[in-house]
Amino acid sequence: MTESVFLRCIDPGCHATLDVDSVVHGCPLCGGLVDVAYDWDRLPTPGAITFFAERWGGRGRPLDLSGVWRFRELLPFAREEELVTIGEGQTLLQTPDVRSLDLDLMPGRLGFQYEGLNPSGSFKDNGMAAAFTMARRLGRRLVACASTGNTSASMAMYASLTRLPDGRPMRGIVFVGSGKIALGKLSQALDYGAQTLQVDGDFDACMRRIREASDRLGLYLMNSVNPFRLEGQKTIMYRVLEGMSWEAPDWIVVPGGNLGNTSAFGKAFMELQMLGLVSHIPRLAVVNAAGADTLCALFNDHGLRWNGGEWDRECVTAFYGKMDGAGVKASTIATAIEIARPVNLAKALRSLDVMNGVVCRVTDDAILEEKARIGRTGFGCEPASAASLAGLRQLLSKGVIDRGSRVVCILTGHALKDPDATVMYHMGREEGGAAAPPRRFSNSPVRVADDPDAICRAIGQD
Ligand code: F0G
Repeated sequence: MTESVFLRCIDPGCHATLDVDSVVHGCPLCGGLVDVAYDWDRLPTPGAITFFAERWGGRGRPLDLSGVWRFRELLPFAREEELVTIGEGQTLLQTPDVRSLDLDLMPGRLGFQYEGLNPSGSFKDNGMAAAFTMARRLGRRLVACASTGNTSASMAMYASLTRLPDGRPMRGIVFVGSGKIALGKLSQALDYGAQTLQVDGDFDACMRRIREASDRLGLYLMNSVNPFRLEGQKTIMYRVLEGMSWEAPDWIVVPGGNLGNTSAFGKAFMELQMLGLVSHIPRLAVVNAAGADTLCALFNDHGLRWNGGEWDRECVTAFYGKMDGAGVKASTIATAIEIARPVNLAKALRSLDVMNGVVCRVTDDAILEEKARIGRTGFGCEPASAASLAGLRQLLSKGVIDRGSRVVCILTGHALKDPDATVMYHMGREEGGAAAPPRRFSNSPVRVADDPDAICRAIGQD
């Protein structure tokens, strides 16, 4: 299977190809991002799409149970015996009640793709199953990532579970910024036994340092600049399609941080269309937090576009130069997406092109409010995930998305990832502990005396 897989620079002016086993963080010729590419003609194409869903019936077989590897013909870069899985991707397209969300969409038109149900509690497990498959195949023992939290949790989990073909355990090394990582995520990295370096800087600084360290020490980089991560994350779209009987929705709405999902989703649809497995490509809405809005600023305010691969690199360099000159750093309550220099910017532009996408930014207040609303529908998520619903509400109010559209929001991480954010919202506290005015959906615990009458009075009646 693997002889028909290679790496290819995404820049159409370069399109350099490399052996699939090359370990690169960019194209050696032009420095651009690289894709995992397939010679699809030489691969078995499934006869019918239901093939994938039928596999799920065979839950006793780990590769068929996995929501990633059940689709293995659509990411055919390794042999079956090489695939790493712990049962990731058991996630479903859920249909929340749009009325309880007070959303101006027709009933039944909204889906939540609930990726918080993954083993480490976020969508990252989809990508890690694929990237660990590659790391193991290459015999790479030291795996590393910079992270706002979820990547490190997922990587640490797979590192502790995966053994090299010769039986040696892997070793996970995590770089997290000082301060802003949510405790649920940090606790996972520690518990799974990864060496955790709290670098004195933010995520962008961690990203820079880990790239240097991986070059110097030969660490295998597990951030989404690793193109195999994105192969696994394509399957989020396959599961959405499965949930809709392979009729693509009108819109996919996703929070944007390092832009790995954004990049993976566009690639998924490019390939599905090329293989004749979808009749149309949904539109994509990428939602930035207002305090970490590089993509939004470049796309909307500076008109940056993929432009057939000829995207305006000077515009981006000037933008970052200005940002650094003014000492601007990313800052948002949605710490998962607190990123000012998204490493997948070029691939994200390609996805926005392929999926006729839009980008918007939402405030921290809107994120917290939507998070509370999502909680009330029974689908707990962390702040970054709720950016998708905040973005949808904004795009509906602006008429960019109309109320008859079929929309899927990606809920990227579980509510328990960041309990502090939730408790602060409901109990009326700011970061740092200062009292804050009550929020719209505040649900504070009620203090009550240890006394039956007082308890009954507090409960009251409906
Ligand atoms: N939502 C959650 C819960 C995340 O953890 C992340 C990214 C995103 C959304 C953004 O996804 O990077 O594909 O645009 N978290 C990374 C991390 C950066 O280190 O855990 P993206």
